[in-house]
Amino acid sequence: MKLNESKSRNGLASSIAMICLALAQVNPTLAKQSQAPFNLNAVSKVKWEECGEISNHTLECSRLDVPMDNWNKSSGKSFSIPVIRLQAKNASATGDRHILLNPGGPGGISGEMLNKVIGEEFHLLSFDPRGVNGSIPRASCYPSDDQRAESFRDNPWDLEFEAGEMYTRAENKAKACIDTMGEHGAYLNTPQTAADMNSILNAIGQEKMFYWGFSYGTTLGQTYAQIFPDRVSRLIIDGVSNLNDWYNTFYFDESLVDTDRIFAGFVEECFKAKDACPMNSIKDKSFKSSSELKTYIDDFLKDLEEEPMPVYLSNSNYGSITRRNIVTNGIFSALYRPLAWPGLANNLAALLNGNSTPAYAAYSDSWVAGLLQDETNTFVVQNDNWKTGVGAPAHGIKPIQNYSLSRPETSLLVSKYQGSDVFDRASWSIPTTHEFHPQYHPEFPRFETAEPILVISTTWDPVCPLVSAKKAHNSFQDAGFVEQKSYGHCSISLPSLCTAKHVQRYFNDGVIPDTGATCGVDAEYFPAPGRSSTHILSKEDEELLAALQGLADERIFQSFLR
Ligand SMILES: *[C@@H]1O[C@H](CO)[C@@H](O)[C@H](O)[C@H]1NC(C)=O
Ligand SMILES: *[C@@H]1O[C@H](CO)[C@@H](O)[C@H](O)[C@H]1NC(C)=O
Ligand SMILES: *[C@@H]1O[C@H](CO)[C@@H](O)[C@H](O)[C@H]1NC(C)=O
Ligand SMILES: *[C@@H]1O[C@H](CO)[C@@H](O)[C@H](O)[C@H]1NC(C)=O
Ligand SMILES: *[C@@H]1O[C@H](CO)[C@@H](O)[C@H](O)[C@H]1NC(C)=O
Repeated sequence: MKLNESKSRNGLASSIAMICLALAQVNPTLAKQSQAPFNLNAVSKVKWEECGEISNHTLECSRLDVPMDNWNKSSGKSFSIPVIRLQAKNASATGDRHILLNPGGPGGISGEMLNKVIGEEFHLLSFDPRGVNGSIPRASCYPSDDQRAESFRDNPWDLEFEAGEMYTRAENKAKACIDTMGEHGAYLNTPQTAADMNSILNAIGQEKMFYWGFSYGTTLGQTYAQIFPDRVSRLIIDGVSNLNDWYNTFYFDESLVDTDRIFAGFVEECFKAKDACPMNSIKDKSFKSSSELKTYIDDFLKDLEEEPMPVYLSNSNYGSITRRNIVTNGIFSALYRPLAWPGLANNLAALLNGNSTPAYAAYSDSWVAGLLQDETNTFVVQNDNWKTGVGAPAHGIKPIQNYSLSRPETSLLVSKYQGSDVFDRASWSIPTTHEFHPQYHPEFPRFETAEPILVISTTWDPVCPLVSAKKAHNSFQDAGFVEQKSYGHCSISLPSLCTAKHVQRYFNDGVIPDTGATCGVDAEYFPAPGRSSTHILSKEDEELLAALQGLADERIFQSFLR
């Protein structure tokens, strides 16, 4: 919830990151999870306690008990989830004046930045979804954090040679998840979290949903909009996942359709930036085109696959650089966030010039392992999915291995590291407890919400591609759409005054952008040192831009579900 403390990265190959979503064998049904009864007057009110201040805005914290099963409250069991509010200066105490964020905590720097982007008319409200960090219970498959980190180490990834190991690990992990979580484990899913958002609204006495969700937050936002359409007033999904793939297909790879294109974009922008990008000055090399540079890097990665490099610093600090480390912990993670491109280019340039230390320090698995905090991702991804997708493999090592190996490699860069995800899914044995079937298909009438939602996407997103955003846009009646012409995951991965103003007008006045709305960005991929923008901005725009830059600088999406 406190984003400024979340240093998590996205290089968690084959455990977390490579999902926004998926390929589709469409099998939708119109059945909708029946709306659980919510009575605004019958819920306990939230008791806020001041818990800090960010740039003269009061922060308030509270906890809320939500039913373990929102659709069957008779068990009497619950989750306790932390809720935090950043008070806006000019928002009234009553009325629809709170915007729910996921991910994104007003407790962190990003709360301050989002407040500056959204303005003083709305309080910002965030929460740890059931299972995440401060939630009681917290989603876990391990008796201790050390064991979590240990199990991440030496995670097998090679489908061809390690399928047996992947299978046995997945089988054991599935059992350990059940044993560790007990009954609560079956109710860690997105429809339940969507219903929890109503509990939060009820507790603060707000009738209508105002929401801005990024990445996994778009899965949550779309799910909310389809289960509780009558309550939707303003709902933005930004960096969008394919809801049908998420719930209905055994395995998804729409998520990665553009990944390689963004890697190519990284190299193109680097080449264009000349001296501002260190990869243009590799010893004894002179690249005449960006495709020459790209080929050189691709060849290097290919060699690395066959011959990993030992790195020895001292007798207590040594290891290796492998293609997998560099690609998953370095390149893939940076594709999310163009502000990380210069750093990536530096580390790669050093590596290409024979100095492996910076890349080793930055991209080794050992420290990435320590960043995993809980297994919410595992539970939610598996519990949401119906697993009955057409073509799901039979249980067992060989069928799953064959299934995975015979799938097209959507991304030549990273697809091959997703192998163990398939085993995890196949071994998962908690039955699906929700009844939600997304209505998500062009042949169905569009889904109607009380007021139209707004869909935002960058042109080139490494995990939630534009095509998924377009599908979401086409699935919701009267929805608006903004395409931000940039690389990166979610619009806030680079500052764009234009996108921010669409967001402001939508939240404040419900304005839906004109059809075909696009936005540029106010940033460079490889800024030359000492050069500053020649644009003359008003004081308001300057402040807005500074806030957007602050947002883009954060590692918000590097741990999914937060
Ligand atoms: C997780 O919870 C702990 C204690 O409840 C808190 O100190 C920490 O800031 C939280 N971390 C994140 C990333 O929210
Ligand atoms: C907070 O308010 C004080 C007094 O009004 C002011 O001097 C200070 O600059 C403000 N701080 C921030 C970060 O806005
Ligand atoms: C609701 O929960 C109660 C208590 O756990 C259980 O006995 C009952 O079968 C559940 N009802 C449904 C419809 O699942
Ligand atoms: C606060 O709200 C009033 C009335 O809606 C408005 O006139 C004023 O500009 C707002 N001030 C700020 C700082 O947003
Ligand atoms: C391997 O997978 C392919 C594609 O999924 C399938 O057509 C074939 O029958 C499978 N073969 C075996 C031996 O399972």
